[in-house]
Amino acid sequence: MPAPPRPRSVFVCQECGQESLRWQGRCPECQSWNSLVERAVMATRPLRPQEAQPASTPIELAQVDARQQERLRIDGSEFDRVLGGGIVPGSLVLMGGDPGIGKSTLVLQVAEQVCRAQRSVLYVSGEESPQQLKLRAERVGATGRGLFLLSETNLDEALRAAGPLNPGLLVVDSIQTVFTGQLPNPAGSIVQLRECTMALMQWAKTSAVPVIIVGHVTKEGDIAGPRLLEHIVDVVLYLEGDRFSSYRLLRGVKNRFGAVSEIGVFEMGSSGLLPVENPSEMFLAERAGDGVGSTVAPAVEGTRPLLVEVQALTTPSPLSMPRRMAQGIDQSRLLLLTAVLSKRLGVALASQDVLVNVVGGLRIQEPAIDLPVALAIVSSFRDKPLVPGLAAVGEIGLSGEIRSCPHLDRRLAEAAKLGFRRFILPASSKPSTCAPAGITLLPARTLGEAVQLALQ
Ligand code: TYD
Ligand code: MG
Repeated sequence: MPAPPRPRSVFVCQECGQESLRWQGRCPECQSWNSLVERAVMATRPLRPQEAQPASTPIELAQVDARQQERLRIDGSEFDRVLGGGIVPGSLVLMGGDPGIGKSTLVLQVAEQVCRAQRSVLYVSGEESPQQLKLRAERVGATGRGLFLLSETNLDEALRAAGPLNPGLLVVDSIQTVFTGQLPNPAGSIVQLRECTMALMQWAKTSAVPVIIVGHVTKEGDIAGPRLLEHIVDVVLYLEGDRFSSYRLLRGVKNRFGAVSEIGVFEMGSSGLLPVENPSEMFLAERAGDGVGSTVAPAVEGTRPLLVEVQALTTPSPLSMPRRMAQGIDQSRLLLLTAVLSKRLGVALASQDVLVNVVGGLRIQEPAIDLPVALAIVSSFRDKPLVPGLAAVGEIGLSGEIRSCPHLDRRLAEAAKLGFRRFILPASSKPSTCAPAGITLLPARTLGEAVQLALQ
């Protein structure tokens, strides 16, 4: 008789989830000390040929019925827009963000809208009691009909309760507070996070019910450490914004079923998060005319054009290494722009502190914001305002050339809509349609040309 397979165990790091076959004092992956814990694994026997049954059958792509994938629509909402047109059945959506930014509020509002569409929702909260949730629901004007609450941190129990209810949507708030009884580790540990997310993924796929999980972002800016959950889930959304301003941006970071980098803009008010109809107007609301060191950049986030104000301030620095501070754009981008301005245009920034800020807590990643930033810096340095009614867009290369950028038509249309009359654009990019009435196109090949066109 063959000897029964020996029980095997692995050692799992509690910090990063790295597995190793023997115990070590220090995790080879994340270098943390004393973080490896032994965990038993089921011994798997290799299948003998006669045992090997085709458990899963391949299916020809042409035979797949995509109609089963009808999405759960939340009509006209910003959430829908970011997801690219509704929640796909059986998908796992991760909603991340800083604590207190409004994740639970947004998820509750989405849940209420799903209930209005005659589907029930199970809201599992490991953080709040049903009474606390009720108070929030009253604030956001949710009736709560069809919305079932479960204050539970044991995920196995929660999934057991979800079965008979057969909800149209399952919400887990937050993934850091739930645990599965199959592991000895505490809730929130890396191993629990991964197991619970995997279990939810499995549940979502087998029951074809979409699941939204809420995740707090750690100080490092990742959801629960080393971007662990992002690989597992189908969709990753981040709710961002300045805690001290009422604007919130919902940003798609990963989406297996649609475009990423779509954004939704909300304003946190006394009755929850309200979608902002015209974000450009909102971001320019407090702009003090055509001031010194301020430009307007028609940015494009996903498919949506957004007019944002870029401010710059240059002041003589008392330091031998003057400071460069960027808020809302990449710090290294600012270094590049100041270098190009000094070298190609002779702007003497070497003894100046340079501060750049994108108003409204927005973060713009596209290089098309280079030209507006550079113009704002020059305007502040020379203490001259830009010509009135000006918007500018373009990427700046190291030799001071202005490079083309995509979506020019959308940027132009948005600028024209808000009454801008002059538009500096890269000479190499031509809008596919003619410019909207009332706006003059000012093509520029180099940064020097753009500065001449822009400064009064
Ligand atoms: P919450 O959704 O609890 O944040 P998270 O789940 O991301 O931790 O929202 C918390 C903040 O939102 C809190 O400071 C109160 C504020 N808030 C409003 O301003 N208006 C509202 O209608 C609601 C429900 C919350
Ligand atoms: Mg919350």
